[in-house]
Amino acid sequence: MEQLIDLSAAVNQLKELVLHVGELQKENLGRVNLAIDVKSTAIDLVTEVDKQSEQKIIAFIKQYYPEHGILAEESGQAASDSDYLWTIDPLDGTTNYAQGLPVFSISIALSYRGETVLGVVYAPVLNEFYYAIKGQGAYLNDKPIQVSAKNQLIDSVLATGFPYDVASHQVNNVDSFNKLLLKTRAIRRFGSAAYDLAGVACGRFDGYWELNLSPWDVAAGILLVEEAGGRVIPYRSDRKISIIAGNNGIVSRIEHELKSELM
Ligand code: IPD
Ligand code: CA
Ligand code: CA
Repeated sequence: MEQLIDLSAAVNQLKELVLHVGELQKENLGRVNLAIDVKSTAIDLVTEVDKQSEQKIIAFIKQYYPEHGILAEESGQAASDSDYLWTIDPLDGTTNYAQGLPVFSISIALSYRGETVLGVVYAPVLNEFYYAIKGQGAYLNDKPIQVSAKNQLIDSVLATGFPYDVASHQVNNVDSFNKLLLKTRAIRRFGSAAYDLAGVACGRFDGYWELNLSPWDVAAGILLVEEAGGRVIPYRSDRKISIIAGNNGIVSRIEHELKSELM
């Protein structure tokens, strides 16, 4: 039987870790000779800072939790028998980062027997540290946060994003975007799914939807939204992780609008 870990203590450790990794990211933001490679498509990027950040985060987890499993965006999943799994996006918002744009985040989640029990999202330039522990609420810079109370789409500002295969896949969110744009106050495309979900958790966004996401994009952010009193639902099964987030009512309204595309 594995020893249960102290989640509050882990949050404090993680805060120190992400502040440190965030310094590296801020120091290199806007550097002209930043090494950038492409991954799945010509618009799916990875920078040297993504890789260095991930190495630092993995080294930390291996030091303090050597038995735990790790699923990290740039290096994949390490085999493990542990009930614990760390899911890591070392730099969510790489397109922004490669442009010198300041909206990007570090996302780290811990699950126990398949259930997320801790989530941390940190936006270094904005100096925003979000965390949630299962059953204990969600916090931004140590203050409790809540999802918005709006109930009409026309009063709502939503966030979304587009997949890296937007140019080659028919189900690419363009039709959904066009539809919801006409029914809402505004839609924002910030470029960091983890930060979008954190924005829903603290009520800055009234809702969010996106398709074809990966576990590291959303694991921490989903817990933030749920612990802030919101709801997150899957909305289609044909494109990896596809979710709608917000308060109960707004999630239902977005789902209704997207329904014609549901499979
Ligand atoms: C991406 C961002 C973006 C979302 C993409 C993600 P990355 O992650 O979260 O907002 O629209 O689907 O892949 O590549 O910057 O870590
Ligand atoms: Ca990501
Ligand atoms: Ca990433």
